[in-house]
Amino acid sequence: MTYENIRLVREGAVTTLFIDRNPKTLNALDNQTLLDIEAGVKSLDEQTRVLIVASANEKAFVAGADIKQMAGLNESQAKEFAALGHRVFALLESLSIPTIAAVNGFALGGGCELALACDFIYASEKAQLGLPEVSLGVIPGFGGTQRLTRLVGRARAKELIFTGARIDAAKAKEIGLVLEVLPAEGLLAHCNAIAEKILKNSPLAIGKAKRVIDQGADKDLTEANTLERQGFAELFGSFDQTEGMKAFIEKRPASFIGK
Ligand code: CAA
Repeated sequence: MTYENIRLVREGAVTTLFIDRNPKTLNALDNQTLLDIEAGVKSLDEQTRVLIVASANEKAFVAGADIKQMAGLNESQAKEFAALGHRVFALLESLSIPTIAAVNGFALGGGCELALACDFIYASEKAQLGLPEVSLGVIPGFGGTQRLTRLVGRARAKELIFTGARIDAAKAKEIGLVLEVLPAEGLLAHCNAIAEKILKNSPLAIGKAKRVIDQGADKDLTEANTLERQGFAELFGSFDQTEGMKAFIEKRPASFIGK
């Protein structure tokens, strides 16, 4: 399948989704780019076990939702545009496989929100992140007020959103928005190395861990721990559990199949 504004590259069990709009737009998210991301994510089959979201543009991961497209929207059109962004990012977030954002250059507004919809973010030394929407007279509209707050806490999220400040990768790491900062030329290699480590483990268990972490995050501890107990127990009797424990006892590497 071909897309206008993204490129999907699969190498083994790792697929990289490159945002690849006309470089002059700094990958700003218009309707077409959002629909391409949605179609790209939907096209993934069981051959993909880790997804990396990256940019084909050296200057920007994504510079935000497309301001030129948004400028003339009325309230109901804005609601539709936000709903599209929410739908696409929720789809990305709901994948059972790990998703890694590789942020190089500007990740502002909708770009930062795209990265926040991934499981975790690695950034290059050239990354600049932020949610500058209030400088445009609006607020983040693709989940930023909620996902950033859950990740870095209310006060940091409010500081970033109220000031609209752009922060560099080191500051983003300090506040827990990104996990590691890499030289730009080593960013994708790092993401792939992390993916390779993940691939050694049971896809079934990883999917379960992801679901329990995500579903438990907004529940009280007792309810969340019930989810964990259920998830733990459900894995028993699976091929991967039997194989993983047998391989340990037989002192050999396990061969997982995700079932
Ligand atoms: N939407 C549309 N076009 C954009 C854009 C965006 N978010 N960001 C950059 N561009 C365009 C610029 O208009 C410019 O195009 P022209 O040459 O046709 O004028 C081109 O990309 C290059 O941009 P600059 O000349 O501004 O490049 P720069 O290096 O001087 O600055 C930048 C780069 C700091 C990223 C700056 O472009 C900028 O501040 N962009 C806007 C960032 C922003 O506010 N993002 C949030 C958008 S709102 C949002 O995302 C809402 C939401 O949550 C749903």
